[in-house]
Amino acid sequence: MSWRDFWNGEHAIYVSPRHKALHYRRIAKDIVSQIPSPDAAVLDVGCGEALSADLVARACGKLYLCEAAPNVREKLRAMFGHLGNVAVMSSEEVEALPDAALDLVVANSLIQYLGRDELAALLRLWKAKLRPGGRLVLADVIPPDVSPLTDASQLLAFGWRGGFLGAALAGLVRTAFSDYRKLRAQYGLSTHTAEGITALIAQAGFEAIERVPNFGHNPQRMAFRARREG
Ligand SMILES: C[S@@+](CC[C@H](N)C(=O)[O-])C[C@H]1O[C@@H](n2cnc3c(N)ncnc32)[C@H](O)[C@@H]1O
Repeated sequence: MSWRDFWNGEHAIYVSPRHKALHYRRIAKDIVSQIPSPDAAVLDVGCGEALSADLVARACGKLYLCEAAPNVREKLRAMFGHLGNVAVMSSEEVEALPDAALDLVVANSLIQYLGRDELAALLRLWKAKLRPGGRLVLADVIPPDVSPLTDASQLLAFGWRGGFLGAALAGLVRTAFSDYRKLRAQYGLSTHTAEGITALIAQAGFEAIERVPNFGHNPQRMAFRARREG
């Protein structure tokens, strides 16, 4: 099994429906906080099920939801297909967008699943699709020194605050025996230092790169915002 198969299949990465709903609502609010204007064209790459994408769609002119997993794209179309300003697309369809069409590209909790060359190629693609001055936000970037135990304790803290602590505890036990843990052990997750990811973003043609508060519930991970040169 690869990461791609994992995301395309049924998985228990969210410990309960409440966890999933609270997670996606928080991510949607964090994305909305980055939208530069009500008519902005926004691309959310590796959006997952994006359960609160309607909140993002309401705050911008056009929302492109890009998801590699075909089964997830089907769910997204079923949930958001009726919204006139939402388009669900594959990675290949993003390549076919006109250049300089976007005002904001966000990728939350994506780049840990990408190799260095794959990430470099995507950064170049996003640069081409952003208008000059458009913004890129990479969030939930994992620094090298964060252990799975830190992720676990952040999940428990989120569960405590969000009223799903019991489900979080049960979920951690399930994860210990899950495909996720096996894949994480087999392939690892890509980690980045702040300096390393800043250099990669700069090499792709972005400027004014700055660290911003992370999206979501885990402040141990990092987020970066950058402006497309031009
Ligand atoms: C950890 S989930 C994050 C989902 C969502 N962004 C969030 O914050 O909850 C990663 C998602 O990225 C998708 N993905 C992985 N590689 C991708 C790529 N190259 N292009 C688009 N989506 C990708 C996976 O299928 C998966 O749904």
